[in-house]
This record gives sequence, C-alpha cells and structure tokens, in this order.
Amino acid sequence: MINKKHFLTLADYTKEEIEYLIMLGIEIKQKLKQGIPYQPLQGKTLGMIFEKSSTRTRVSFEVGMLQLGGHALFLNKNDIQIGRGETISDTAKVLSRYLDGIMMRTDDQKKLEELAKNGSIPIINGLSDIYHPTQVIADFMTIYENKGTLKGLKLAFIGDGNNMAHSLMIAGAKLGMNVYIAAPKAYEPMEEIVELAKAEAVKQNSKIVITNDTEEAIEQADIIYTDVWASMGQEEETAIRLNHFKDYQVNSVLVEQAKKDYLFMHCLPAHRGEEVTAEVIDGPNSVVFDEAENRLHAHKAILVALMA
Ligand code: CP
Ligand code: NVA
Repeated sequence: MINKKHFLTLADYTKEEIEYLIMLGIEIKQKLKQGIPYQPLQGKTLGMIFEKSSTRTRVSFEVGMLQLGGHALFLNKNDIQIGRGETISDTAKVLSRYLDGIMMRTDDQKKLEELAKNGSIPIINGLSDIYHPTQVIADFMTIYENKGTLKGLKLAFIGDGNNMAHSLMIAGAKLGMNVYIAAPKAYEPMEEIVELAKAEAVKQNSKIVITNDTEEAIEQADIIYTDVWASMGQEEETAIRLNHFKDYQVNSVLVEQAKKDYLFMHCLPAHRGEEVTAEVIDGPNSVVFDEAENRLHAHKAILVALMA
C-alpha cells in the first residue's frame, strides 16, 4: 500500500512505498502478458497536461489508462487556457470537478505543487525541471527483473546532473543502492538534492558519490545510466554543452571498467554519438527498450495506487 495522495517526487515516498510500486508494476505486467483482464479504473479519467514534448510518457499513460478500464485526455498547454495565462490554481480547481487525476509534464516543479495544493485529485509528475519520478519506477523494475535485487548495486550515472540524476539518486539512496554521479563541475546535481539523498543513504548504509571522474563512477558498476546532455528547454545551450560534456560519453572504452554483466540504461530519447555511442546503446548489455516498455506497467501501478 502507499499512503500518499500525489506522486510529485520520490523524496516524499518511503522505501516500502517505492518497493510496493515496483512490485505492483511487475504484477500488472504479468497480468497483461497472461491476458488476465485487470480494470480497476473503470469510468475514471486522467487529464495529461503537457508543457513539453513526449513520446513514451504520453503514450504509455494513455494506453495504461485504457487498459485499466479508464480514459485519458491529452491536454497540450497551448490548447488549454493555461497557455493564455489562466492560473494553475484555477485550473486545478476546475479540472478537479471533471477528472479523477492529473499527470503533468512541466518546466517547473512548483506548478505541480500548486496543482496539488489547489485541486482535490491526485497529481502525478510526468517530468519537471528537477525530477522524473515515473521513469525511475520503470527503471528500478527493469533492474529488479535483470538482477533480482536493488540493494547493494552500484549505479553509475554519467553526464548531466539533471532531473534524471536527481530522481535516480533519491530513490537509489532509499533502496540501498550505491549511486555515483559523474558530471562536469558546472553540471553537478543540485546541492540540496544531493544532501537529501546522502541523508537517506546513511540510513541504508549505502553511498551517494558526486565526482567529476567518469572512471571512479564506472569502476565495477552494475548499472551504467546516461541521459541527454541538453534537456528539453536547454536547446540553445546545445553547442556549448557538447563541448563541456565531450569527456563524459559512454562508449566501449569506458564501459570496459564496469562489471562484465553491467546493464546499460537510458530514459530515452537518446542522441547516439553524443552521450552514448551506438555500439553501447545498441549492444548486448543495453536494456533501454525494456525500460521504455516498463514505463507502461510502472505507470499503471502508479495510477492504480493513487486512483483505484
Ligand atoms: N523518457 C521519457 O520520459 O520519454 P518521453 O520524453 O518520450 O516521454
Ligand atoms: N533530461 C531529459 C529527460 C527526458 C525524458 C529532459 O528533461 O529533457
């Protein structure tokens, strides 16, 4: 069980609640594979507000709602009145009169908090400037399916200390993983989130390490994770970032230092030849498409936990 109304950041969730969502995702996946009908959200509707682009999050939430017996509405920011200046607070109050839940992808975590504060229905973070928690439930499902455990594994995140790095660090710490983030100096994860993760890691006897040294991070790693060097909204910085990140590419030389049976992970979309070479992402250790598939099952678990 989870004892939460919203899903805004995994920082709010306990170890047990995160584990519950992972295991529920696995159970729901098995039901689908075995053709067992599972529709606890019959008659329920989810609004999906997008301020940024999406392939996986949009499609998997929409298909997930359908499979659970409910319905999803795609609400592009520019097609609803938020795009013309209606406040988040009024939008939350109005949509709470129609919907049973809202998933939002936004450029500002505060907008999610504002929705949660002013509406009366569950709010799900479908990616913000600082977090991407739904992705991490799918990622940890994927790791569990491949490794049979999470505790004690070493996860090396190579690249930008961004929303993915933050969510992996927080949840990894709670679940007793050793999370190493290797980022260039100016692109390290946010100090306050690192502190939060470190405090959690202490309780689990695990480690959170922020370094500028890719080799320190990747040495004997069980999981190698990377993400784009320029996230959505940072397109203008692309040229300068390509230059700053050039020594942080995950390629066949770097992965030599990880464990032989390492998993390569990426939330996607990927830029081959930038943060990762084709050899690695399309190689035998890569589980990126299993990870993408697991978004569907993980999202169904989150929807059921909050809305059923
Ligand atoms: N990983 C992820 O969130 O993908 P989309 O941007 O396509 O939703
Ligand atoms: N860090 C990326 C993740 C995309 C799923 C971004 O925010 O664009």
